Amino acid sequence: MAPAADTDQILEHTDDAPGWSVQLLVEKGVKEVPSKYVRYKSLHSDLPVIDDFSVELPVIDYGKMHGANGEEETANFFKAVHEWGFLQIVNHGLTEGLIDRTLDVARSFFLLPVSEKQKYFAPDPDVPVEGYARINNVDGLMDWGDTIMMNGDVPVLNKHKTDFSDWHHLPEKFRDTLVTYARETHTLGLKMMKQLGDAIGMADVEETGGPQGLQLAFNFYPPCPQPDLVLGISAHTDPQTFSFLIQDQPGLHVLNKGRWVLVRPIHDALIVNIGDQLEILSNGKYKSIMHRVRVSSEYKRFIVGSFLRPALDAVIGPDPRLIDVEHPPLYKAIKYADYMGDGIDDGFLEKRIVNKVRIHE
Ligand code: OGA
Ligand code: NI
Repeated sequence: MAPAADTDQILEHTDDAPGWSVQLLVEKGVKEVPSKYVRYKSLHSDLPVIDDFSVELPVIDYGKMHGANGEEETANFFKAVHEWGFLQIVNHGLTEGLIDRTLDVARSFFLLPVSEKQKYFAPDPDVPVEGYARINNVDGLMDWGDTIMMNGDVPVLNKHKTDFSDWHHLPEKFRDTLVTYARETHTLGLKMMKQLGDAIGMADVEETGGPQGLQLAFNFYPPCPQPDLVLGISAHTDPQTFSFLIQDQPGLHVLNKGRWVLVRPIHDALIVNIGDQLEILSNGKYKSIMHRVRVSSEYKRFIVGSFLRPALDAVIGPDPRLIDVEHPPLYKAIKYADYMGDGIDDGFLEKRIVNKVRIHE
C-alpha cells in the first residue's frame, strides 16, 4: 500500500471552504490518505473482524414485547442488553417512513453547497458539540467523516435555547422531520430506560439523572481511497445516557467477545445502545460498549445518531437505590459538564472517561 501523504495542512481553510472537511477533501480528488487521518493501526487492529454477518447484533421486535405473550421477546431484549449492550429494534412504533425521511434530511444537508452549510459551522471544528464540524480530532489524529451536531434541549441544558421546536440550526425545510424524529426517539428512549431501570430496581433516570435532553448528529463518511488506513469514528463508547442510530450502509463495528462485529443495515430498524451515563447510574449493571466505524472505498455512508443526555449541570453518580454494604458504588459522581469536558480534552476513545470515574477496589 502506498504510504500516506505527509501533508499537514490538508486544505486551506477559508470562510467558504472548511479546511477540516473530509467531504471537501474527497471532492478535491485526494488519492492518498493524509497522515493526520491514519489511525487504524493503533486501535485494536489486532482483533478479529466479523464482516460477513455470520454473527449479528440481536434483533428485537419491540411491538412483540408489548403484545400478548411478550415474555419471550422481553427476555430476548434483556439478554441482548446484557450480552451485547447493543441491539437492533424493529417494530418500534416510530411514525411510518420517519426513519427514511430523517436519513434523507441528513443526506440533503451534506449535499447543500458549502455556502449554505457554512452558516452552521461549529465555533471550533475540533469541539464537535454543536454545529457542522469534523467528527473527531483526538491525540492529533482525525476520523474520516464530517458531522453536524444539534441540541434539542430542555431549558436547563442550554440557556440560549428553549426546546425541540427551536431547532434553529437547520434550514426550515428540514425542521419538521427532525423535530418529529427527535421527539419520538426521546420518548422511546425514556420508555426503554424505564424498562431497563425497573428490571434492576433503579429509580427513573430522570429522577436521579435529571431531565434528559437530546442531541442529534448527522455523520457523513465519504468514500476513502485507502479505507484500511482510517476509521470513520475511532473506538469509543457514547458519553451520553442512551443512543439510537440509523444507518443506510454497513460500517458500524461493535465490540463483542473480543471481536468487531459489523452491523447489518436493516431497513427501518433502530440500533440502540447504552451510554456511559446509564452505566454510571446503574452502577455498572448496564455497560456502555465500544464501537467504531469503518469506511468504504466505494460508497458514501450517512447515519443519524439520537442521544439522550443529562443537563450539563446534572451530577451523575450511581443510583442510591442500588447501593448498600454489599454493593458499594463503583463510580464517582461527576457533573455531566465535567465529564464531557474531560472527554473533549482527552477524547472519548476507548473507555478513557468511564475509567477515570471508576472507583478501583
Ligand atoms: C456515534 C457513532 C456510529 C456510526 O456517532 O457516536 O458511534 O455508525 N456512530 O456512525
Ligand atoms: Ni458512538
